[in-house]
Amino acid sequence: MYLQFICILLLIIPATSAFVQGDCISCDAALTKLSFQLSPEAAISCRNSPLQKQNAKRYWGKQYGKNATIVVFPVTKEDVSHAVQAASFSRYGERDLAFVCGGHGQTNASSSSGFLIDLSWMNSTKILHNLILEDVTISTAIAYQGGAIWKQVTDTTNGTGFTAVGARVGSVGVGGFSTGGGIGFLAGAYGYAIDRLRALEVVLMSGKIVLATKTNRYSDLFWAMQGGGGQFGIVTTFYQEAVPEPTSSQFGVWIVARKSWERARQNTVDFFRSNNDPYSLMYYSLGYYPEDLAKAKPTTLMVMVGIQFANPECHLHSPYGPIPSHIRCQKGFNATFSGLLDGLILENISTYNVPYGQATELSTLFFPYGHRRGFWGPQTSNVTMPFVDAASKQMELYINQSLNRGESPDSAVWVLQYMYPGQNGHGPTSDEATAWPHTQTAHQTLFSPSWRSAENDAFVVRHNDALNQITYDHQASIGPFIADYPNYISPKADGHRVWGDNIERLIRIKAKYDPECRIHQGRVFASDTCIERGWANVYPWKS
Ligand SMILES: Cc1cc2nc3c(=O)[nH]c(=O)nc-3n(C[C@H](O)[C@H](O)[C@H](O)COP(=O)(O)OP(=O)(O)OC[C@H]3O[C@@H](n4cnc5c(N)ncnc54)[C@H](O)[C@@H]3O)c2cc1C
Ligand SMILES: *[C@@H]1O[C@H](CO)[C@@H](O)[C@H](O)[C@H]1NC(C)=O
Ligand SMILES: *[C@@H]1O[C@H](CO)[C@@H](O)[C@H](O)[C@H]1NC(C)=O
Ligand SMILES: *[C@@H]1O[C@H](CO)[C@@H](O)[C@H](O)[C@H]1NC(C)=O
Ligand SMILES: *[C@@H]1O[C@H](CO)[C@@H](O)[C@H](O)[C@H]1NC(C)=O
Ligand SMILES: *[C@@H]1O[C@H](CO)[C@@H](O)[C@H](O)[C@H]1NC(C)=O
Ligand SMILES: *[C@@H]1O[C@H](CO)[C@@H](O)[C@H](O)[C@H]1NC(C)=O
Ligand SMILES: *[C@@H]1O[C@H](CO)[C@@H](O)[C@H](O)[C@H]1NC(C)=O
Ligand SMILES: *[C@@H]1O[C@H](CO)[C@@H](O)[C@H](O)[C@H]1NC(C)=O
Repeated sequence: MYLQFICILLLIIPATSAFVQGDCISCDAALTKLSFQLSPEAAISCRNSPLQKQNAKRYWGKQYGKNATIVVFPVTKEDVSHAVQAASFSRYGERDLAFVCGGHGQTNASSSSGFLIDLSWMNSTKILHNLILEDVTISTAIAYQGGAIWKQVTDTTNGTGFTAVGARVGSVGVGGFSTGGGIGFLAGAYGYAIDRLRALEVVLMSGKIVLATKTNRYSDLFWAMQGGGGQFGIVTTFYQEAVPEPTSSQFGVWIVARKSWERARQNTVDFFRSNNDPYSLMYYSLGYYPEDLAKAKPTTLMVMVGIQFANPECHLHSPYGPIPSHIRCQKGFNATFSGLLDGLILENISTYNVPYGQATELSTLFFPYGHRRGFWGPQTSNVTMPFVDAASKQMELYINQSLNRGESPDSAVWVLQYMYPGQNGHGPTSDEATAWPHTQTAHQTLFSPSWRSAENDAFVVRHNDALNQITYDHQASIGPFIADYPNYISPKADGHRVWGDNIERLIRIKAKYDPECRIHQGRVFASDTCIERGWANVYPWKS
């Protein structure tokens, strides 16, 4: 009776401030209040309304899309703060709060069937010079909002001479990427995104808005978000120290005839050993693709990609005078990749020379939406023939077995990704420097399976386990323990595999900034409260 009365009362209150679709707010006092607090440009969309439906389709791995009961689209940091506070009083938010940026995450953390904050309307980017933020000064910062995707960032930086270390596919969100490591085309030359972050504007779970830097009173929060992911608060703006925008970006995409596969693997190993240009890199891959990406029936293909960005130092200096002796300028594209292509029969050759701002769009075709997907893989410090052979054969086995069980592994791929030693001097000096231990430079492996039926989830994970084991065994035989890459976290990887000895500190920081464990989807650090409520799944011990 009483509830019904409130409900009627709320219904007759005149026009709210934010745009509201659907009627999920009328009987929820916290949501009604929220609708008045939000900016007029913000929105609330209830299940089955157009914006909610649009949100449900934004998840790159189809298995992660859920229908939220209520989706809030904030446009300012204050909006985010109000939403976070409303969620704790709304009956939809107390158990099931989540927030999403690009929707490419692989831990099932960024969707919710309850209360969801969709950050995608906070998508602007600014280039700021001589920026002073509390105790840090940044000569040039790329300031990107927490709901942007990389295409939006590079659209803004394109042609300015400055850019950020961002994802290699334009639809990836800045939020998950920048808190989970951040390996971009330019990471080998300038370091990972987490190593280039200088400040974070964060909405805490209390609703308080803070600035975290490496040295201020929120330095623990800053550290945790350098690879610990989105378990501590919502970043509304990232401040990354800019890198020079390459003046040219050349790509070669080569399909290797099966007869040449052995040779191509040897050439790949040789490239990994001998490359001495931080602006040149390559990817080796085996995937199930149509030869002509636009049509034709798919088949198992080996695709090698060689990329060279112009070394900006050479191009900056050369017109004005002699190049300083410490700068080693690069060989041309053909000379750089002649060894990689030596003796190979190529079925298709495509080359591109695009503005850096468009480089991510070359990869987009290879990673389509609409399938159940994974994006997983450990790393290794040294690539050898037996390793590449074993992993490639395991990938082929996965494709063959998928087909045998009637699956469509379309666009499934295994990729071996080159990383320049020491990230060209930009790597961290200790494993405690950031939440993700990554002193030892390593090359990434990536298994990105693709399938339709939920019945095959376990089959796919078994293949991932087998591929991971090949990398783990190989690494154990040649060198030190290397943590898995947080942004490629495997379904069964335990916390130690990803964060090594940094977990205990991450758990303490989780307890401090999210004392009620309100962020508890995906990978959840085992604070006492998260354990008590049954949500913890990242523990300090090895499983
Ligand atoms: C096709 C594809 C290409 C990729 N390419 C690369 C690549 O080149 N390099 C690379 O390093 N990785 C790459 N990745 C991995 C990618 O970085 C991770 O999947 C990342 O988590 C995606 O971020 P997102 O914002 O799109 O994901 P979401 O699913 O939106 O979020 C992932 C996690 O981050 C949290 N989060 C999102 N926004 C924020 C925020 N503003 N503040 C705090 N937490 C937040 C979410 O709550 C969730 O826990 C790729 C993935 C895919 C699927
Ligand atoms: C979400 O709702 C739509 C209808 O609006 C439905 O087609 C879809 O299957 C639902 N998705 C999930 C994951 O429940
Ligand atoms: C994702 O999480 C939901 C609960 O929020 C769960 O029901 C679902 O099975 C999970 N999906 C995957 C693929 O992990
Ligand atoms: C980016 O944000 C603007 C303004 O908030 C919004 O209108 C637009 O739809 C957003 N773009 C995307 C792709 O979500
Ligand atoms: C990017 O900048 C280049 C010039 O540097 C220009 O030719 C190109 O059209 C721009 N691309 C976009 C998408 O703005
Ligand atoms: C080679 O690849 C390009 C780009 O995907 C495609 O347009 C072309 O048709 C392919 N050529 C052959 C012979 O397959
Ligand atoms: C590089 O090689 C391609 C194909 O072999 C050739 O067409 C092109 O002219 C070469 N470029 C240079 C600068 O030598
Ligand atoms: C990788 O292994 C080879 C052969 O075992 C060795 O010669 C080389 O120095 C190693 N490289 C690195 C970076 O460890
Ligand atoms: C997969 O199937 C192809 C084509 O039938 C075959 O050539 C290849 O040897 C098989 N590979 C594995 C590892 O089963």
